[in-house]
Amino acid sequence: MRVGIANDHAATDLKFKVMEHLKEEGYEVINYGFDTHDSVDYPIAGEKLAMGIKNNECDLGIAICGTGVGISIACNKVKGIRAGVCSETKTAALIREHNDAQIIAFGARIVDEKTAYELVDTFLTTPFSNGERHIKRINMLKEIEDRQ
Ligand code: RB5
Repeated sequence: MRVGIANDHAATDLKFKVMEHLKEEGYEVINYGFDTHDSVDYPIAGEKLAMGIKNNECDLGIAICGTGVGISIACNKVKGIRAGVCSETKTAALIREHNDAQIIAFGARIVDEKTAYELVDTFLTTPFSNGERHIKRINMLKEIEDRQ
């Protein structure tokens, strides 16, 4: 599986640790984020990752900023992309099972390293349920985009 990852300055160290963790697990990892501790802008990284998924350069994505919120909002601005912020594994599983989210977002200032590994492992290994009610609701999200 090809996994995209993106971050701002608040999450550079955690991004590199998560990349290493994923490579050890055999994932191909594509870095769309910033490799600096200098102040940078999370919308740039979020858009790059979301476009990478939209253009089928990668299958799923990981977005990390200070809280996970700013970068997730950026990802969700890209048509067809669903990103969810998580700080525990139940939500990390449910955003795949129910929302078919392509991107998990979390905060480097919120979760520790071990939790970050658990979040990405859960997210990347949980399939979409394909439940009829969930498909219907995802289609409703697409209709919202089409009405803009
Ligand atoms: C950067 O200081 C911080 O605002 C950013 O990483 C993120 O938390 C925004 O949502």
